[in-house]
Amino acid sequence: MGFYSRHVLPHIIDLAMRNQETARLRAAWIPKARGEVLEVGVGSGLNLPLYSSEVQRVLGVDPSLELQRMARKRMPERPMKVEFLTQSAEEPLPVADASMDTVVVTWTLCSIRDPQKALEQMKRALKPSGLLIFLEHGRAPDPGVAAWQDRLNPVWKRVAGGCHLNRKIDGLIATAGFRVIELKTFYLPGPRPMTYTYQGLAQAA
Ligand SMILES: C[S@@+](CC[C@H](N)C(=O)[O-])C[C@H]1O[C@@H](n2cnc3c(N)ncnc32)[C@H](O)[C@@H]1O
Repeated sequence: MGFYSRHVLPHIIDLAMRNQETARLRAAWIPKARGEVLEVGVGSGLNLPLYSSEVQRVLGVDPSLELQRMARKRMPERPMKVEFLTQSAEEPLPVADASMDTVVVTWTLCSIRDPQKALEQMKRALKPSGLLIFLEHGRAPDPGVAAWQDRLNPVWKRVAGGCHLNRKIDGLIATAGFRVIELKTFYLPGPRPMTYTYQGLAQAA
């Protein structure tokens, strides 16, 4: 891992993920989490302060130690167990099958090299009654915007830490064996290839 990925990118990610729009969406969805929570791509911990008192423990998975250091400074005020796993979510996670009440994934399925593998781990870890909360950007339905996403993707991936602009998030989630039970899609303010947003809930199918 080079200097840019280790020392510069984590700060860019932290800054980019902290704005009025992302804060509004986090505040709408993260409080729906309950019980034992697996947060995949916990990043700099921007969701941590938003977990409600219904959450007993958050297990945050992320391969970036630098982001994990930032997340440790955003621990929630109230007593809630937060633990970190420094690994890729594509690798087998050291959690029992059907042990998590909630899996949370925000603006991360775009960056995981093999999102299907990571979603399989999330599905394995989630209880049959559990909820997957997702908040992601991805492929736009408008052909003109999608064409730009395909065009920009190779360069974007290189400068934005492996982030893909053109993944159809609800399709990925369904292919992994989840049933999407709530889905809202729209453009956030900003350049359309980067801002088409998928937010919602899914359960094991
Ligand atoms: C754009 S950031 C979003 C961070 C955080 N979820 C948020 O909402 O602010 C993408 C995150 O995905 C993480 N990531 C990339 N590849 C991953 C993988 N294979 N497994 C788990 N997390 C990964 C990155 O380290 C980074 O923290």
